[in-house]
This record gives sequence, C-alpha cells and structure tokens, in this order.
Amino acid sequence: MPYLTALPETLRIYPIALICTPRMVQESLQVAGYKFESGTVLVPCIYLAHRRAETYPQPEQFNPERFLKQKFSPYEYLPFGGGSRGCIGTAFSMYEMKLVLATILSRFELTLANQRPVYPVRRGITIVPSSNGVQMVVSGERQAATRESLVISP
Ligand code: HEM
Repeated sequence: MPYLTALPETLRIYPIALICTPRMVQESLQVAGYKFESGTVLVPCIYLAHRRAETYPQPEQFNPERFLKQKFSPYEYLPFGGGSRGCIGTAFSMYEMKLVLATILSRFELTLANQRPVYPVRRGITIVPSSNGVQMVVSGERQAATRESLVISP
C-alpha cells in the first residue's frame, strides 16, 4: 500500500504530456538569469524538468522510493502542468490511478503475458507505449481478507 504514494514516479519518468500548453509573457521578466520580453512564447517542458539529475538523481532509473522519501515542489514535479491553466483532471486522475491499481492488485495475482520489451514512444506531444501496453495474465486470485484491509486515500 505505501507504494500507492510512490505512484507519481510513473508520471515522473514517462509524463504523458511532454510539454505544457504554451504561455505568452505579458510583462518582461527574468527567470534563472534569462530575460524574457513581453510577447515571448514559453513552452515549459515537463519531460526535461523530470529528467534533471539535480532534482532526481539517476533520472533514467525507475525508482518509486524517491516519492516515499521526499516531496517535490510544483516546479520540480509537474505532470499536470501548473498555475491557473494547470490540468483540471489532476486530483481525479491521481485518485483513479490509485483506485484501479489497488483494486486490481489486491484481487488478482498477475504475470507478464510475454517477455517482449515495451518502449515509450512519442505521439505528438504525448508519450505512449510502443505496443498494446504491458499485457498481463491473471495467474491467481487473492484472499478476501487481504482485500478488506484496502483503504485508499485520495
Ligand atoms: C494522467 C492523466 C492526465 C495528465 C497527465 C494530464 C496532463 C495535462 C497537462 C500537462 C495539461 C497542460 C497544463 C498546463 O499547460 O499547465 C493539461 C490540461 C488540461 N487537462 Fe489534463 N491531464 C490528465 C487528465 C485529465 C482529465 C481526466 C481531464 C478531465 C477530467 C483533463 C482535463 C484537462 C483540461 C480541461 C486541460 C486544459 C486546462 C486549461 O487550459 O485551463 N485532464 N492536462
């Protein structure tokens, strides 16, 4: 169950949206030493922010424990963008992911259907699986006692 809290690592390593909606600078401003004039179009890159080694040591590695040990700021972790035009589906999506994962994993034992690797590929501004996703087969059913202890907080 603690690993549901670490679920954000999946959207860290493969954010579904690679970039945010473009923003236009209204008044000249300076960010991290860079000056942007009014009218400049900025496109925050979620993928690159999530791959910064300064924020996420060994960024290429899938390491859910990083989210158990640490909280990341909205400037470091932004799979849903941010600010006043951030994704309206953020809370819903995170809750849905936890619920689906916890429900399936608490009821069934699963094994990989095959050993074929699945790669992330770019489709437009999104990342999708290279094939039909990670296919699994149900290899067993879990005991009801395990299921009853399932309490998921949003
Ligand atoms: C894992 C699921 C999802 C991801 C990763 C995601 C990601 C994003 C991102 C990156 C943006 C751009 C935000 C920005 O530029 O700051 C966005 C915008 C948006 N998303 Fe999502 N989204 C998800 C699910 C949903 C769902 C379930 C809904 C609807 C219930 C939704 C509705 C929207 C809308 C309406 C916007 C535009 C907001 C605006 O421009 O004001 N998204 N999403």
